Amino acid sequence: MAYILKRPEWYLPKSAATPESVYQNRRAFLKAMGLGGMMLAGTGAGLGCLAQETVSETKPTAGLAAFTRNPDFADAGRPLTEESLATTYNNFYEFGFSKTDPAKNAQGFSLDPYTLKVDGLVGEEMEFDLDAIEALGYEERVYRFRCVEAWSMTVPWLGVPLRKLIEKVDVKPEAKYVAFKSFLDPEKAPGQRDGRYPWPYFEGLRLDEAMNELTLAVTGIYGKRLPGQSGTPLRIIVPWKYGYKGPKSVVQMTFTDKQPGTFWNESVPSEYKFFSNVDPQVSHPRWSQALERYLGEDKKDKPTQWYNGYGEQVAHMYDGIPRTLY
Ligand code: MTE
Repeated sequence: MAYILKRPEWYLPKSAATPESVYQNRRAFLKAMGLGGMMLAGTGAGLGCLAQETVSETKPTAGLAAFTRNPDFADAGRPLTEESLATTYNNFYEFGFSKTDPAKNAQGFSLDPYTLKVDGLVGEEMEFDLDAIEALGYEERVYRFRCVEAWSMTVPWLGVPLRKLIEKVDVKPEAKYVAFKSFLDPEKAPGQRDGRYPWPYFEGLRLDEAMNELTLAVTGIYGKRLPGQSGTPLRIIVPWKYGYKGPKSVVQMTFTDKQPGTFWNESVPSEYKFFSNVDPQVSHPRWSQALERYLGEDKKDKPTQWYNGYGEQVAHMYDGIPRTLY
């Protein structure tokens, strides 16, 4: 099924976008002020709303096989976030709780030799390496990405529609959900030594959400393999949901007939629900979701779009479900 992106509800007029020159000037200003590497500390417990970003550089990762940008997802209607921001302002609690920790602590992190294990309600358990996954149809897509903390970015992901991988698996008819599990290695990941969290990170999607054309198994970003801090070697991207619904460094996918638990729901049940669809009208208990801040800008002044602007492709999946459950 192909989706054509017309000018849907998320489209913002040019005046709302920050030109690259303004963006660059802000970086120069931050550097001059000595604020470049400064970060506010994380909350240490739940996800928080942080205001400052880092501008330090990240090490390049090995190149990828040839790919093409899917024309249906070439223009997200917003300026691309600068690579050095998207890869140095991260949430990856396994590697620390401040935004700058992952880029520092996950440098050189690798899960080689990598295999993605697929089990649960399947005819036969399977294992996929990266080559097998990428051979299913590797492409680039520019997506808007909205964190529950009310910042957002626009990123060129490289990957394979998750649906193509699921279609290779003999999923039993009673399977209704997919559960994802991230790696567990407290020796490499200092955050996993923090006993307040139920490691390893885990997430889940309804099967139709996992099969939606937008859901990607991502192995690259900005034309390169995912660096450690971005979730090497494979993460899930679900662009109409808050960012935490996309687990990084995933090693296992389990098909199940029961709604899986999730890392953030188990950690703070009152704040993070299973669906977690982006919705400007449903506030987080501690802050409004009506507006968002583009990474690289100062102000949280851009209107949040319902389903992050992807309603045309996904709204039908939630017919009859009360919006507050999202
Ligand atoms: N996956 C794992 N394994 N661990 C995490 O801490 N954080 C989530 C999500 N996936 C997280 C994770 C959250 S809260 C967000 S917003 C995104 O990853 C952040 O992705 P980014 O750092 O590439 O922007």
